[in-house]
Amino acid sequence: MSTTFTLDTATSRATPTPAPMKRLTVPGIARAKGGTPLVMLTAYTARMAQLLDAHCDLLLVGDSLGQVIYGLDTTVRVTLDMMCAHGAAVVRGSYHSVVAVDLPFGTYEAGPAAAFASAARVLRETGCAAVKMEGGAVLADTVRFLVERGIPVMGHVGLTPQAINALGGYGARGKSDAEFAKILSDAKAIADAGAFAMVVEGVVEPLARAITEAVKCPTIGIGGSPACDGQVLVVDDMLGMFERTPRFVRRFDDLAPRIDAAAAAYAGAVRDRSFPAAAELYGVPQHPVAGG
Ligand code: KIV
Repeated sequence: MSTTFTLDTATSRATPTPAPMKRLTVPGIARAKGGTPLVMLTAYTARMAQLLDAHCDLLLVGDSLGQVIYGLDTTVRVTLDMMCAHGAAVVRGSYHSVVAVDLPFGTYEAGPAAAFASAARVLRETGCAAVKMEGGAVLADTVRFLVERGIPVMGHVGLTPQAINALGGYGARGKSDAEFAKILSDAKAIADAGAFAMVVEGVVEPLARAITEAVKCPTIGIGGSPACDGQVLVVDDMLGMFERTPRFVRRFDDLAPRIDAAAAAYAGAVRDRSFPAAAELYGVPQHPVAGG
């Protein structure tokens, strides 16, 4: 019996591939509303995706990579090239989670056609299953346009960091009655347009709860509510890579000082010539011959 091997150009893997786990699907995520909370983390590299994959339902290649990977001050300068490169790496590093990739600022807001072109490029070049877009009712037609053409869309309401220049800060949203009502109606519009899931970021807890009750798709909170249908954190925040920890972040490790200590130990070993040792060299007898 012969097996046909084809090259999957999106992921650069020969298929069939060893697949220890079957990948979850977008419809499966949509059906998770009200069930066991969905687990999502950001990932930007293949190795981190490998480490997180088995524990997550979704991996988000967030445009937070602008700050986390590229040292930018906001997400506004993140490009489609960056998202495609990191999205492809995360898809290559994962077998199980649904991978969603952020559409960066300026690549979808102009209208459905622009958004379709950007999203199609992301799906084609990365092999991911879905794109995420920030915004409310003004984007509903765009979400519907993509979904009707086979591109799953994750919404993102509440604090929308790509709009930082208009918002003026990263404080929690929904404190006034008017803003509460506006964000709730934005969330309903995006869900009704066909989003399969929705990030609810940086809102007062009763608003995250109200959105979760009002929309038919799962909500994934970050600075939201335990009532959300899932939670997401930026992986570097969760690992303790940064000194600053916003209120909504829980550090599940404290990696920054551990990396600092490892780098200091390495530097000391190089400077005192204890690294490399004989066992770390090629062509050096480990056990000198007796009498030699
Ligand atoms: O870009 C990102 O990492 C995100 C999450 C914070 C949800 O959008």
